[in-house]
Amino acid sequence: MAKDTLILGIETSCDDTSIAVVKNGRELLSNVVSSQLVHKEFGGVIPEVAARHHDERIIFILEKALKEAAVALKDIDAIAVTKGPGLVGSLLIGISLAKAISFSLDLPLIAVNHLAGHIYASNFVSNLEFPLISLIVSGGHTLLVYMAKHLSFEVLGKTLDDACGEVFDKVARFLDLPYPGGPYIDKLSKNGKLKYFLPKALLKTKNYNFSFSGLKTAVRKLVEELKETKEFEENIENIAYSFQAAVVDVLVTKTMEAVYAMDVKNLVLGGGVAANSFLREKLIERSKKLGLKVFIPPLNLCTDNAAMIASVGTYQYLEKDFSDLALNPDPNFPL
Ligand code: KG4
Ligand code: ZN
Repeated sequence: MAKDTLILGIETSCDDTSIAVVKNGRELLSNVVSSQLVHKEFGGVIPEVAARHHDERIIFILEKALKEAAVALKDIDAIAVTKGPGLVGSLLIGISLAKAISFSLDLPLIAVNHLAGHIYASNFVSNLEFPLISLIVSGGHTLLVYMAKHLSFEVLGKTLDDACGEVFDKVARFLDLPYPGGPYIDKLSKNGKLKYFLPKALLKTKNYNFSFSGLKTAVRKLVEELKETKEFEENIENIAYSFQAAVVDVLVTKTMEAVYAMDVKNLVLGGGVAANSFLREKLIERSKKLGLKVFIPPLNLCTDNAAMIASVGTYQYLEKDFSDLALNPDPNFPL
């Protein structure tokens, strides 16, 4: 029988400090995530503060992840760490720890792309099947990816301006909601209806790129107008719903066009915005009609976590795709 592969994953690309132990790429032994609530006060992530918090917490998180998995560092086969994209100071904390463990225990070091991680979060739901199309929607990224096999990524399109999650957070701020605002908009929308017809940029273009800045500006203007006429409070749920419906329509339409054009039967959703209930519902609905198999991570694996990094790292480990100790963060690491 083949030997089990145990990978330690480390993720510190933004404001979540996370370490996980994953067996054979799909079995979660532990996945400790510490979210930095401090950024709520500022309404966004302050890079220096994020890096300092990673530094303060990371050893504690490591100990907790090993303890929960009931393994020791000597049982681990390799260390997989996020190389980018992300905040350079934050990435550096994870990479420094990964290098230290790799050097002291002579373990292979594996550099993982954070966006690949968001796709592989679905690997914990069921074995990824290829070829597939993946829609990645997070706080920093929005892209459509085609994969013919493991670790093969072809970016079909991406956002030309703001990321999807970023727009959710900005719109939430216009609506005077706390940060990060995505989950609040999701919740408010449940009691709203389609009242405002907002721009759906690039919906009809024959490519897979996205643009959300026009929508963001339209919501800002709408809120200003409604505040002046004192109709804001009574319509806050309708604004949230109308905004969310516009975003989801563009995301689902483009994704289905890619699925059709690339002739795939597997669809993977990933990234923080994959937690959005309306997006999940619409994608599942459309996929059913087309007979597609949909992979959607559970809510705790949609947002940043190290389990997804360890999962990608397992396939890189099998390919012996290792890095040396000169590994550095790459804030714009392409997929
Ligand atoms: O993937 P993620 O944890 O971090 C990045 O890699 O960027 O994504 C965070 C984003 C935030 O913008 C947050 O507002 C959004 O995911 N988000 C949601 C929901 N839950 C989290 N957006 C819409 N609806 C949600 N339920
Ligand atoms: Zn992310």
